[in-house]
Amino acid sequence: MCGIVGYIGERPAAPVLLDGLSKLEYRGYDSAGMAVYDGEKINFAKATGRLKVLSELTHDGETMPGSAGIGHTRWATHGAPTDSNAHPHFNKERTIAVVHNGIIENYVKLKKKLTDKGYEFCSETDTEVVAHLLDYYYTGEPLETVAKIMHRVEGSYALGIIFMDHPDVIYSVRKDSPLIVGRGKDGNLIASDVPAVLKYTREVCFIENEEIAKLSRDGIEFFNVDGDLIEKDFKTIEWDINAAEKGGYEHFMLKEMYEQPKTVRDTMNPRIKDGQIIIDELGMTEEEIRAIRKIHIIACGSAYHTGVTSKYIFEGLARIPVEVDVASEFRYRNPILEEGALVIIISQSGETADSLAALREAKAQGVTTLGIVNVVGSSIAREADKIMYTWAGPEIAVATTKAYSAQLIAQYLLAMKFAQVKGRLSEDGLSEMLRDLKRLPDQIELLLNNKGRIQKFANRYIAAKDVFFIGRGIDYAISLEGSLKLKEISYIHSEAYAAGELKHGTISLIEDGTLVAAVATQDELFKKTVSNIVEVRTRGAFVMAVTNEGNTEIEKNADYVIYIPQTNKYFTNSLAIIPLQLFSYYVSVGKGCDVDKPRNLAKSVTVE
Ligand code: AGP
Ligand code: GLU
Repeated sequence: MCGIVGYIGERPAAPVLLDGLSKLEYRGYDSAGMAVYDGEKINFAKATGRLKVLSELTHDGETMPGSAGIGHTRWATHGAPTDSNAHPHFNKERTIAVVHNGIIENYVKLKKKLTDKGYEFCSETDTEVVAHLLDYYYTGEPLETVAKIMHRVEGSYALGIIFMDHPDVIYSVRKDSPLIVGRGKDGNLIASDVPAVLKYTREVCFIENEEIAKLSRDGIEFFNVDGDLIEKDFKTIEWDINAAEKGGYEHFMLKEMYEQPKTVRDTMNPRIKDGQIIIDELGMTEEEIRAIRKIHIIACGSAYHTGVTSKYIFEGLARIPVEVDVASEFRYRNPILEEGALVIIISQSGETADSLAALREAKAQGVTTLGIVNVVGSSIAREADKIMYTWAGPEIAVATTKAYSAQLIAQYLLAMKFAQVKGRLSEDGLSEMLRDLKRLPDQIELLLNNKGRIQKFANRYIAAKDVFFIGRGIDYAISLEGSLKLKEISYIHSEAYAAGELKHGTISLIEDGTLVAAVATQDELFKKTVSNIVEVRTRGAFVMAVTNEGNTEIEKNADYVIYIPQTNKYFTNSLAIIPLQLFSYYVSVGKGCDVDKPRNLAKSVTVE
C-alpha cells in the first residue's frame, strides 16, 4: 500500500508534495496524483505511471498554485492502475478531496448504500467511498464528520483530507496504515513515512490508530475519535534518508518480514465476514465449485512452494486431486488438462514469464484459470479468468517473505471454501479453522520477536558450505522454502528433501557437523521425521528442529529446537517459515551479502 503526503504552510504546496512523494517511490507504486487549494477551488492532477509523468503534467507543480495540498502514490488494490482510479478522489461537487493508503474492507456495502442514495461513482476504487461518505455525513464541521466516518469504515486507512470550505486546514486520520505528522518552521506535513518530510523537518509525530490530526499553517492539533483534544509527543528523527526508507530496519527484507502480520490480516480480513469465507471476487457459483474435478497449481520459486503446501490442504480438506508444477516445466510438457480442471497460477509480480506462459497454455486448452497475484493490473491478473489478490503491498526485497505469507493465506481460504461447498467441512470445523487462522498474525509477531536467539544461532553458520532441510508432507513444502531463502540470500548451497527420501542417496553427503534443519509440525508424521533426525544425527549432522510447542521429546534427538505456537496442522507453514526466514536473513547479514538485492537475481523474472 503506497503513500500519502500533505502540506500546509508558507511554500507553494505542489512542489513539496512532489518532493515528498518522490521520497516514497522506493515503496513501489503504479500511479500518482495530488490536489491543491488555489484560494478559490481545489485543483487536481493525476496520472498512471511514474511520478515523473505527474511532475511533467504539472510543470513540477507550477500549474497548481496554492499552499495547502495532499498527494498520493498509489499501489492499486481495488481497480486497475488508471488515471481515473488514481488518487485524490472527490465528492461530486469536488468540495472534498481525499487521498488514502490502505484497504476499505466494507467498501462494497458502503458503495451500495451510497449508490442507493443517489451517489455516483467515477472510479473502481474502494477509496472513492470515503469521499462520498464524508459528503454524506458532512455537517459543515470537518472534525465531527471525520470522526463519524471512522465509525462506519472498516479496514486499514491513512487519510489526507481537504474540505474546500475549510481550506486552511488539512485533516488526517489513520487506522492500521502508517501515518506521521511533521512540524516544520514554514509549514506542517502529513505523510505515510518519515522520508517524505525529512527535507522540511526532523520533528515528527507518529499517529496512533483512530487519532485525528488537524494541520493549519500555524499549528497542529490532535483529537481522539470522540473529538477530544489529546496531547502528542514529537520526536526528533536522527535517521538518514536511506535508513528512513526502511523504516529504521537495516534492510527491506527485514522490514517486510515484520510486515507479515499486517499482510496476513489484510489478505484474510476482507474475506471473512460473520464466520463465513466470502470470496465473491472469484465470481464462482457453488455449482461451479462443486464441478471442480482437479486443480493444477502452477508457479515458480517461492510461489511454487506455497502451491506444494496447498496441495496437501486441497486434497486433505476438500478431497480434490491437485497437481503442482513449476511453470517452466508445465508450459513445455504438453500438459493434459481435463474437463472440470481449475488451473491456479500463483505470482507475486504477476509478470513472471513462465507463469504467464503457463496461464496462456491453460487458457488455450479452454480451462478455467484463477490468478493469485499481488500486483493489481499485472499481466497474469488481467489475463486470468478469475483473480484473488494477495494484499501484501509493494514487496521490494528480491527474496519474498510477506507476499509468500499472503499467498498461503489466499490458498487456505480457497481450500476451506471449496471443502465447505463440497460438504467436507462442517460449520463447526470451519469456525475452528477460522479461529486458528485469525490467530496467525499475532503468532507470527511472537515468532518475529524471537529474532535474537535465531540471530545468535545463525552466526554459527555463516561459514557453512552445505545445509539440508528435511520434512514430510507440508513440512517438506516448508523445507523447500526454507532452503530457497537460505541459498538465495546467503549463497550457501542448500537442498530440501522429503525426509523419507534422504536415505535414497543424499544421506551420503551428511558429514560431521553438517547442518540439517528438520521441520516436524505434522503430528501424524512426527515420529517418522524424528527417526530421520536420528538417521542424520548418527552420521554426524547437527540438527536444528522446528516443531510445535509441547513436542519437547524432540530434544532427545535434536541439537537445537525452535518451537512454533499451536495452530491447525494445515497452517503451520505460516509459522514455521518465520524462524527459517530469520535464520537465512541473519546468515546473509553475517556474511555481508546484499540481502535485498542478491547477486544474479531479479525481483520479477520476466524472461524465460
Ligand atoms: C523467492 O524469494 C524469489 N523471489 C523467487 O523464487 C520468486 O518467488 C519467483 O521468481 C516467482 O516470482 P513471482 O511470485 O513474482 O511469480
Ligand atoms: N485501496 C486503495 C486503492 O486501491 C489505496 C491503495 C494504496 O494504498 O495505494 O486505490
